[in-house]
Amino acid sequence: MPAPAPRLEWFTDARFGMFVHFGLYSVAARHEWVMNYEQIDPAAYRRYAEVFDPDLFDADALARTAVAARARYVVLTAKHHEGFCLWDSALTDHTSVTACGRDLVREFVDAMRAHGLGVGLYFSLLDWDHPDYTIDRHHPLRHAPDVAERNAGRDMDRYRAYLHGQVRELLTGYGPVEYVFFDFTEPGVDPDSGLPGKGPADWDAEALLATVRELQPTAVVNDRLGIPADLVTPEQYQPDRPLEAGGVPQAWEACQTVNGSWGYHRDNLEAKSPELLVRMLVGSVALGGNMLLNVGPTGRGEVAPRDRALLEGIGRWLGHHGRAVYGAGPAEDEPPANCLYTRRGDRLYLHVLVWPFGQLHLPGLAGRVRFARLLHDGSEVATTVIDPRQTALTMQPAGQPAGTLTLRLPTVRPDVAVPVVELLLTEGA
Ligand code: GLC
Repeated sequence: MPAPAPRLEWFTDARFGMFVHFGLYSVAARHEWVMNYEQIDPAAYRRYAEVFDPDLFDADALARTAVAARARYVVLTAKHHEGFCLWDSALTDHTSVTACGRDLVREFVDAMRAHGLGVGLYFSLLDWDHPDYTIDRHHPLRHAPDVAERNAGRDMDRYRAYLHGQVRELLTGYGPVEYVFFDFTEPGVDPDSGLPGKGPADWDAEALLATVRELQPTAVVNDRLGIPADLVTPEQYQPDRPLEAGGVPQAWEACQTVNGSWGYHRDNLEAKSPELLVRMLVGSVALGGNMLLNVGPTGRGEVAPRDRALLEGIGRWLGHHGRAVYGAGPAEDEPPANCLYTRRGDRLYLHVLVWPFGQLHLPGLAGRVRFARLLHDGSEVATTVIDPRQTALTMQPAGQPAGTLTLRLPTVRPDVAVPVVELLLTEGA
């Protein structure tokens, strides 16, 4: 892997971040796209601002949750598609400051920093509340009978000025920001409404990126302005190979939900298990990517106990296996079936997804490993090289190609989300 660009160094080292989706949709508690799904008129949707009361939003507790999960950076939705701002924007009164007297972005940024976490801000390019944002394929009013008339009165120039002004506010008023997550650009026409989406020119994406570079030159920026920036962001799927564009490897981050919804969704109980999430994290690192795992705090602003338990489960695993993740990346060796490799310097980490009986054969590793141990408890794992010329007998295994290193694993699978064998490589291996 080529070395990452300097601004990406902390990011590829960090590997695991926490996403936080919080807004008026957290009060509706049935998906952050509720305004779109239920085609709620923006004026009617504003009633959620009237009852917005995040009395349990405690940024310090949120930071502690991220620390317990052993995430290294946290990204907060400063504004989602609904248009409600969690900071003290001078450009609108549709903010948390008006609704409840609190600048939640300020609270968030201060708390994350105090806990040594990287600060990320998510900013929606879409704004379903803004009167100048033209009704497009994703807009809640897309099926209104008079879309053309309504759009005639909307002025995207004015919207663009608002958008750029808000990004400037966020990047000047809150100190250093490590990560700017824009969302999202989809210009194509949707057959259902017959309306187009919006493309990079609608945002003046080049100028917006230039603004970020000017105001926060070290911040990493995702690819959702619709123009290339620092990293690509596959969403709700795990890539099965390293990501590249035109043959050039890309830094990437898979963003994942607990249950398919980003905003708090009270009735959706389809939670992934901590084991699955750990496998997804390792699967990302093994292919040179990060994972950004979302939590959607409740309408009152706290991380629901069910999500906290999950995050703690991941944190427990990382507490013992962090060195196979942070600062680690893909290995050149091919892992055996049902295993993944990550590598950091002279250590190769074998993540055993399905626990085999007794032996595990590692092609190409004979003579390259000076010590092998289980990572969770540091206990030695015996290794042998089976002579490739020998034949199988009653109690004598055979049939491994030359160069294979065989591990002798305990019968009982270690009781951790994913057991890992740490292989200390010999010099130059
Ligand atoms: C999206 C969705 C959204 C979510 C996000 C996270 O494209 O519109 O609701 O915030 O991506 O990556």
